Amino acid sequence: MQLTSLAAVALLARNAAAQNMLRFACSQLTVDRVDPIVNPGMLFTPHLHQIVGGNSFNITMDPETHDLAGQSTCTSCTFKEDKSNYWTAVMFFQHKNGSFHRVPQVGNGGPQGQLINDGGLDVYYIPSGRTTAFKKGFRMIAGNAANTDPSKVSKGNICHRCWTSTNDNNFVGGAPCSGSDTVEIPANPSCKMIRQTIIFPTCWDGKNLDSPDHQSHVAYSGVGATGGGACPSSHPVKLPQVMYELMWNVSTFSDKSQWPTTGNPFVYSMNIGGAAAHGDYVFGWEGNTLQKAMDSGCNLNRDCAAAGIHAQTPAEYNACKKPQMAREEVDGWLKALPMGSMAVKA
Ligand SMILES: *[C@@H]1O[C@H](CO)[C@@H](O)[C@H](O)[C@H]1NC(C)=O
Ligand SMILES: *[C@@H]1O[C@H](CO)[C@@H](O)[C@H](O)[C@H]1NC(C)=O
Ligand SMILES: *[C@@H]1O[C@H](CO)[C@@H](O)[C@H](O)[C@H]1NC(C)=O
Repeated sequence: MQLTSLAAVALLARNAAAQNMLRFACSQLTVDRVDPIVNPGMLFTPHLHQIVGGNSFNITMDPETHDLAGQSTCTSCTFKEDKSNYWTAVMFFQHKNGSFHRVPQVGNGGPQGQLINDGGLDVYYIPSGRTTAFKKGFRMIAGNAANTDPSKVSKGNICHRCWTSTNDNNFVGGAPCSGSDTVEIPANPSCKMIRQTIIFPTCWDGKNLDSPDHQSHVAYSGVGATGGGACPSSHPVKLPQVMYELMWNVSTFSDKSQWPTTGNPFVYSMNIGGAAAHGDYVFGWEGNTLQKAMDSGCNLNRDCAAAGIHAQTPAEYNACKKPQMAREEVDGWLKALPMGSMAVKA
């Protein structure tokens, strides 16, 4: 027992994000071909996403008029006051017979405790020094959904890690996006889970809620889950660092005899590998709760009276769902990736 907790403390100390921070589970709200940031108003967008957070998520979410906190009646994320939306591409396994199957997502463990998810992802808000919370309507994207060149990706901010254990509590490796973490999705049958990390920029221009590429109004100030360093004069406002962690449970697909003879059997829904990994964020915390949570040193996924934020039980946040808007099959074996026209079963 004692050894176990000592080991946990040592790992925490090695983890760059050992300061107080929010770290919480978000269950799947929907898996849907919609993208209100890149393709507002469109059903059957070019690729499939999995979305978590406030249930007022919609095909159009105008920064000036869509009030996420006011219009959402529930959230699939832990904190009741967090009606933000967080989304990513989904991972598929390609069988050698050509069919595709969506890779299930599970909660994350590690020394900071196990998170309970029904699909979805885990979200972190990591402050470093004084930070200014996002403004209502703010949105941004990390990564590039069309990129096919892994060398163009900052490995310290967007990466994958191979977990050879099926137990998500067995913490593997050091700080996020360090050591042997890779930009590419690991293609190794001994990986039972693949952890994906997406770290967002921490500096804002202080003016624009969005920008044409959904990125140039923000800037990185360093790599890794450290909360970020000093901001450049072009983007002087220091933001809390948003980080997504996804646990892709690939254990059902670890039989190499089912894999195609060449190439990586794991691919994101754009039909591109790790080079195109990306995350989308729309801020939607109620009032100034996020600012207070950062200023008060609220920690992990616990109630924090100083900020007036409340942790829901897994049963509560798991119950917040939204029907798919672009109706199509996304589960089971599919004949092709859900791209272009509606997907069909294999
Ligand atoms: C989504 O938007 C449509 C109109 O574009 C609207 O009718 C509908 O009520 C919205 N749904 C939610 C949950 O806000
Ligand atoms: C491919 O293999 C899976 C798993 O055995 C099966 O369910 C699916 O129907 C197969 N697809 C085709 C096109 O044969
Ligand atoms: C991952 O999938 C395997 C096979 O379906 C399952 O036995 C295991 O419980 C899953 N792991 C988690 C953490 O849910």
